Amino acid sequence: GVAPGCPQEGTPRPSEHSQLVQECLQQFQVTRAQLQQIQAGLLDSMEQALRGQANPAPAVRMLPTYVGSTPHGTEQGDFLVLELGATGASLRVLWVTLTGVDGHRVEPRSQEFVIPQEVMLGTGQQLFDFAACCLSEFLDAHPVGNQGLQLGFSFSFPCHQTGLARSTLISWTKGFRCSGVEGQDVVQLLRDAIQRRGASNIDVIAVVNDTVGTMMGCEPGVRPCEVGLVVDTGTNACYMEEARHVAALDEDRGRVCVSVEWGSFGDDGALGPLLTAFDHALDLESLNPHAQRFEKMVGGLYLGELVRLVLSHLAQRGVLFGGSSSPALQSQGSILPEDVAAMEDPSVGAAHVLTILQGLGLSPEVSDVELVRSVCAAVSTRAARLCAAALAAVLARLQRSREQQMLQVTVATGGRVFEWHRRFHSILQETVALLVPECDVSFIPSVDGGGRGVAVVTAVAARLAAHRRL
Ligand code: GLC
Repeated sequence: GVAPGCPQEGTPRPSEHSQLVQECLQQFQVTRAQLQQIQAGLLDSMEQALRGQANPAPAVRMLPTYVGSTPHGTEQGDFLVLELGATGASLRVLWVTLTGVDGHRVEPRSQEFVIPQEVMLGTGQQLFDFAACCLSEFLDAHPVGNQGLQLGFSFSFPCHQTGLARSTLISWTKGFRCSGVEGQDVVQLLRDAIQRRGASNIDVIAVVNDTVGTMMGCEPGVRPCEVGLVVDTGTNACYMEEARHVAALDEDRGRVCVSVEWGSFGDDGALGPLLTAFDHALDLESLNPHAQRFEKMVGGLYLGELVRLVLSHLAQRGVLFGGSSSPALQSQGSILPEDVAAMEDPSVGAAHVLTILQGLGLSPEVSDVELVRSVCAAVSTRAARLCAAALAAVLARLQRSREQQMLQVTVATGGRVFEWHRRFHSILQETVALLVPECDVSFIPSVDGGGRGVAVVTAVAARLAAHRRL
């Protein structure tokens, strides 16, 4: 039996609450030495992949794209852009006008569609039919003329690209798992679906990763933007590499944009010491267990989920919400990344935090607010610092490939985590400065969520295609 006066497990005295919380949150701390290890480990994997090492397979893929230069600012024309995979369960269609004149920008028209859960987990044909249907709906609502529409396809998953408009899906990531798509050319699947809908006026000209769209959308400023960084549901970056360093290409001149696919860093165990019990639980309940371990510590799809797992643990230990839980707190995905951002924002009042928690069916007390805020801050601070270590590896790689002591570089940032979370951005920036002090980095937010960059790549691809026809 329990000695009288001793607190039973699960019902600690209030004085012990903050200690239990501190113990729990300490697990999310990442030291500077650990960040440096991640930076070095990722740089190693990147270079192994560039050299084409097969055994053991490098932890990141370093996928070459067909983009060989940053924008000139002279690209012009009207383009249809279809974005799939960047913003989780939504698909975006945009109509982007490039004027060909530096600094003269026309607001794009855009429409967002929610992809039903059953489509995200259904067959590939269902998914691409859904995309084609969204295109038609967009064109009905925004008459743009129906002569020869040129489409750029932003598809934000790891792909082997074999042409500007040829790209084979390697594996799904984030919340998608449609059958019959892995190993297939996603441009062909989209074209087939467009055909089935009878929209033969749409021509798919280019396919790009969201990081590439982010980088290419940057208007040429004092210096070109040579890195694209995305933190949305998932996370990844691309940068301009010297083509001669990319074994897969057999090119000795010029540059090529490489998508790092750093989300899979750690799948070989390299993140082991950092993983908490919450990370393991999240991984096992995900659609892709044992894969994308780095992404699962940084991406927006997972931030809310990590917070939920910690809050639920603390409620179980009697530290939060008077020791009671709720069905929502027990269900996967109930806390959104924008809630995490709001709850930890010191300028957001306690009342709003209470409202979010009540929305989860909880009965929070005012004293819970500070603890919940510190849980959110711990999870997102770790994410921003890890992301900084990964970006530092890319910057170090750029420095090495350019053989420059001092690197001046512009990074375009995209993804909703930056929009929701001002602190994420400042922690990222501070940590990058700490890790690569010899780099002079400027950050520029992406234009139109990367849509403009996709149009720029499409414009170049269309021009090349026209040349070939001459
Ligand atoms: C995932 C995808 C990657 C994409 C990133 C950001 O990591 O695999 O291709 O760039 O998410 O959306």
